[in-house]
Amino acid sequence: MKEHLIIFDTTMRDGEQSPGASMTKEEKLRIARQLERMRVDVIEAGFPAASPGDFDAVRAVAETIKESTVCALARANDADIERAAEAIRPAKRQRIHTFIATSPLHMEKKLGMRPDEVLEQAVRSVRLARRYCDDVEFSTEDGSRSEIDFLCRILEAVIDAGATTVNIPDTVGYAVPEEYANLIKTLRERVPNSDKAIWSVHCHNDLGLAVANSLAAVLEGGARQVECTINGLGERAGNASLEEIVMAVRTRHDVFPCDTRIDATQIVPTSKLVSTITGFPVQPNKAIVGANAFAHESGIHQDGVLKHRETYEIMRAEDVGWTANKIVLGKHSGRRAFRARLEELGIEIGSEEQLNQAFARFKELADKKHEIFDEDLFALMAEEPAPSEQERIRLVSTMIHSETGEPPHAKLTLAIDGKEYSTEADGSGPVDAAFKAIESLVHSGAELVLYSVNAITQGTDAQGEVTVRLSKGGRIVNGLGADTDIIVASIKAYINALNKLQHDAVRINPQL
Ligand code: KIV
Ligand code: ZN
Repeated sequence: MKEHLIIFDTTMRDGEQSPGASMTKEEKLRIARQLERMRVDVIEAGFPAASPGDFDAVRAVAETIKESTVCALARANDADIERAAEAIRPAKRQRIHTFIATSPLHMEKKLGMRPDEVLEQAVRSVRLARRYCDDVEFSTEDGSRSEIDFLCRILEAVIDAGATTVNIPDTVGYAVPEEYANLIKTLRERVPNSDKAIWSVHCHNDLGLAVANSLAAVLEGGARQVECTINGLGERAGNASLEEIVMAVRTRHDVFPCDTRIDATQIVPTSKLVSTITGFPVQPNKAIVGANAFAHESGIHQDGVLKHRETYEIMRAEDVGWTANKIVLGKHSGRRAFRARLEELGIEIGSEEQLNQAFARFKELADKKHEIFDEDLFALMAEEPAPSEQERIRLVSTMIHSETGEPPHAKLTLAIDGKEYSTEADGSGPVDAAFKAIESLVHSGAELVLYSVNAITQGTDAQGEVTVRLSKGGRIVNGLGADTDIIVASIKAYINALNKLQHDAVRINPQL
């Protein structure tokens, strides 16, 4: 019988701290429901003390999720802990996660506190958190650069004070696998009450080692909780990626003494949902969830796989939720087939009205592109604005002129707050012309910091999926748009990003 490895998903907290990845309450709810469907053990829904928006989002997740534990982050102080406790109060299973930095560098330079003060603050915070909730996690921020003797002292004290999980983050992604595994192993051996808590790891990917460090700590160090994010989203280079952790443990069940309870067939739908909501595309060669993760290009590999699948495949694409570019629907597919396929893919449909609008867009797409793949459906549904995010700006029509020797020219009509306006502009290319035309009406003053195009499926009739990242006044947003015409996809993505910028008031800013 395998031991249980707890999967603690922090996509909506640490993941959200990626510039531009902030999520609305509705977006967090969609992700939380999908994480629950995937059978994640603990969902870290946010940092309630960070902003009223984050508080509301955590509260909404706590009201909705029944099967997974809902966790809220709090610095080790009374106000943060009380706010976290209040936010998760409606949850069936709740956890407060409190943290304080323990490395000499952080204690001296960031906190301006002596180690004894840090220890006292940690114990006091865990005690307070335990008054609200039986499930309390304590993290030693910058744990991998902390002194081992001090870690032993503080961890023993917080376990005594009631911490049920202790987490040793590699906050700056500095550790290497053997060293990190040894740290967890040594702590478990030296802390006298170590058997009273679950040991957890939380690794950042600055050196590309987040997954390797986490797995080493599970295998050699005895950690039984891994903190991770979908698609490895997270601060700077990101966190350990959930899909890689889960599939490594499952595929190499011969070496791991533990397993997760994750429904792996939900991995690809979850990855796509997070990517479309945050606007962070998944790189094609990303393990498990990248478009090429199961594509065999070389003749030798293709021949081998056709003769015997296991020659070059260690996992089955369908086991992680890939449907192999199946043509699922076409021009003649009806509303019922459309709805059924969305349900099979785990895509949230929303109200009848939203389904009708999505079906109308599906029919439009099927007219242009006769074969509709699952990937097209994911992109189509991603265009549905969340209820609190009804678009202020909408594309009504566009005409782009591109001719050798002539400057590309864009003409377009936008609806802004329900009123239509037309404009035109030249540019150095058709996309540039279109963006200039939009700006001549909207005057957003935002800076374009990223523009990228990906083909969603194969073939020249594939939809192009465009990501646009805009920055304004320190705020970064990502917009997504998909269409068989990549200029139209670009315009949709730009408008999507502008609409997000307009929603300043209701969007959440997790950074303190
Ligand atoms: O990386 C880190 O140290 C964190 C803690 C708050 C757990 O995210
Ligand atoms: Zn972190």
